[in-house]
Amino acid sequence: MLSAVGTFVAAFGLLVHIADASSASGSFTSNHVDIPRIGLGTWLSDKDKVSDAVEHALSSGYTHIDAALIYGNEVEVGKGIAAAGVPRSDIWVTSKLWNADHRPAEARAAIEKTISDLGVGYLDLYLIHWPVAFVPGKGTKIDHHAPNTWRTLENLVRANLTRYIGISNFAPKGVEEVLQTCTICPYAHEFEAHPYLQQQEFVDFHAEKGIKVIAYSPLANTNPTYDSGIPALLKDPFWKALAKKKNATVAQAVLAWGIQRGTIVIPKSVHNDYIDENLGSVGITFTEQEMRAIAKEDRKHRMNDPGKSWGVDLFEGLDDPTTPKDAFEEL
Ligand SMILES: NC(=O)c1ccc[n+]([C@@H]2O[C@H](COP(=O)([O-])OP(=O)(O)OC[C@H]3O[C@@H](n4cnc5c(N)ncnc54)[C@H](OP(=O)(O)O)[C@@H]3O)[C@@H](O)[C@H]2O)c1
Repeated sequence: MLSAVGTFVAAFGLLVHIADASSASGSFTSNHVDIPRIGLGTWLSDKDKVSDAVEHALSSGYTHIDAALIYGNEVEVGKGIAAAGVPRSDIWVTSKLWNADHRPAEARAAIEKTISDLGVGYLDLYLIHWPVAFVPGKGTKIDHHAPNTWRTLENLVRANLTRYIGISNFAPKGVEEVLQTCTICPYAHEFEAHPYLQQQEFVDFHAEKGIKVIAYSPLANTNPTYDSGIPALLKDPFWKALAKKKNATVAQAVLAWGIQRGTIVIPKSVHNDYIDENLGSVGITFTEQEMRAIAKEDRKHRMNDPGKSWGVDLFEGLDDPTTPKDAFEEL
């Protein structure tokens, strides 16, 4: 049972979620870790590699894993967590509600499956993966009658299944809608953010609202599935020069920039050397002048936009949104 879950209006007038609870598994405590500023991503991590990657990361100083049911590898991620043998309360585990599971019964079943597959007892953070609901069992058919998904997530907190809830891939209007009606408000928003899609205003907006930003695909088009048509970030001459100046690799410099501007970065890798290298980003800092120079390198180029294949407009009001034309062309 929750020992205390509540909301308060902070000094700056925002509704903030606080949770200090003991779960059915008896493990929610107020001294549990807050979200760490770097985590290990697991999208596209092969099932036969991800257990070792997660075990290595948690044994080497990472305390944060980013998972999702749709990645199809939560059982293997869970094996890695178990193999690392770290106390549950020392790590932060995020997962996400898939589009076909927005209805209350489906959402409850989905989070219970995720918790069971990961073997973690409860989640630290559960996100609405996309602001799009599909009719259960009907592929990508849009569910125009989906009930209020945020209410459903609030009930998952009340049921002690997750400490915090949040959103992913929402446009500003969607964030505002959640904020206007939430009683347990979003802890974090996970969206694409990297040097080629900096979204600084949107990042600042979340800071003002007290919502943490988790930057996904922090290494931009290093994800080999992105066909971006722009030069590889890790070979970008600007970043190569800056990294050299910092005696760091480009990946480390890029991640350090993400951390310095207040976002939480979740680079994915299944290679121990990359996993170690990425953790080495912590502690690298930039001057204000360097931060201003990095801001000028923004290409406002989005890599991940499934709205085109789902036939929905995403990211309205943000850089590089889906346009109705994009959606039409892909259908
Ligand atoms: N909420 C959402 O909708 C959403 C969407 C996308 C991503 N995410 C989350 O964000 C995580 C990270 O994003 P991402 O996977 O798209 O991309 P990413 O972390 O920016 O890039 C991953 C790619 O970079 C490579 N890499 C990692 N570290 C490297 C290094 N130090 N040097 C050279 N290459 C390196 C990886 O190689 P190897 O894997 O071969 O080691 C992999 O190919 C995902 O795994 C997922 O957890 C969430």
